[in-house]
Amino acid sequence: MTIQRVGVIGSGIMGSGIAEVAAKTGHEVVLRSRKQETADDMVSRLTKSLDKQVERGKLEQADRDACLGRVSATDDLAKLADCDLVIESVVEDLDVKKALFQELDGIVKADGIIATNTSTLPVVEMAVATSRPDKVCGVHFFNPAPAMALVEIVRPLTASDETIATVREFATTCGKNPVEVKDRAGFIVNALLFPFLNNAVRMLENGTASAEDIDAAMQGGCNHPMGPLALLDLVGLDTSVSILDALYEEFKDPNYAAVPVLRRMVAAGHLGRKSGRGFYDYSKK
Ligand SMILES: NC(=O)c1ccc[n+]([C@@H]2O[C@H](COP(=O)([O-])OP(=O)(O)OC[C@H]3O[C@@H](n4cnc5c(N)ncnc54)[C@H](O)[C@@H]3O)[C@@H](O)[C@H]2O)c1
Repeated sequence: MTIQRVGVIGSGIMGSGIAEVAAKTGHEVVLRSRKQETADDMVSRLTKSLDKQVERGKLEQADRDACLGRVSATDDLAKLADCDLVIESVVEDLDVKKALFQELDGIVKADGIIATNTSTLPVVEMAVATSRPDKVCGVHFFNPAPAMALVEIVRPLTASDETIATVREFATTCGKNPVEVKDRAGFIVNALLFPFLNNAVRMLENGTASAEDIDAAMQGGCNHPMGPLALLDLVGLDTSVSILDALYEEFKDPNYAAVPVLRRMVAAGHLGRKSGRGFYDYSKK
C-alpha cells in the first residue's frame, strides 16, 4: 500500500511538525485535536510557517497554496476513517495512548495502519489494544520534525513486514532517513541520549557549573548544535521526565532515574520553551 491520506492526532509540538512534513511532501493530512479551536490553531501555525518559507524564498506561493489545500482540521476522530496511516502524537502516557488505539481500531478502515510517535513507550502494548496488531508500529519523528532528518521505524513483535515496509516508504517520501529498530524503550536515539541529558541536570544540581557554561562546553567542546539543558527545554521537561521514567522502568539503570530537580520543575510548571520557562527564560524572547 502507498500512503496518501495521513491522520495526525495531537496538536502539540510534534503533531504540528509531523503534519507540516506530511502535507508539504504531497500527502493529504487530517489534523485531529480534542478541540476544534486547537485543531484550527494548528492550521494557523502551519500557514504562518509556510508564509515565512515563501517570504524567505524557500517555497513557491503555488506550493504553499497546494499544501494548505491538502490539510483539514477536525475535533472528530471519525474523520480519520479513510486514512491510510494514522500517527498519534498525544501526551507520553501509555494508558492514554492505549485507550486511543482501541478507539481508533473501531474507526480507521481495516487496512489502515495506526502508528505512534512515542519516544519510549512499548509499542506492542498499543498494538495489542487493537484487533490489528500486525498493522501497528512506531514512527518516531524528531524535534523539530520539519528540520530533523531522522525517523525511527519501531517494529513491535506483532508488526508485519508489509506494515514496516509501507511506513518506511512513507518516511522516505516525507524526505526523511528512516532507520529500523526493535521495540525497546528509548529505541536508538533516546536510549543513548537521555543518560547524557539527565547527567547534565545532575551536574547543574551539584553546582559544578552554570547552565550556560554546561551548554557552552558541550557546544564548543563536542560540536553539539545545542547544549543539553537547552535541548531539554526544547523537548519539554514533562516529556523528558516521562521518557526517563519509561527508560528506568524498562532497564532499571540508575542513569535513567530522573534527577529530582527535573520533576520539581515540572511540578512548578517550568516545562521549557513551551511554557516560557525551563532551564532558561523564554518569556521575553
Ligand atoms: N517533544 C519532543 O521533542 C518529542 C520528540 C519526538 C517524539 N515525541 C513524542 O511525541 C508525543 C507528543 O509530544 P509533544 O512534545 O508534541 O507534546 P506536547 O505536550 O507538545 O503535546 C501533547 C499533546 O497531547 C494532547 N493531550 C494531552 N493529554 C491528552 C489526553 N489525555 N488525550 C488526548 N490528547 C492529550 C495535548 O492536548 C497536546 O496536543 C509524545 O509521545 C512524545 O514522547 C516528543
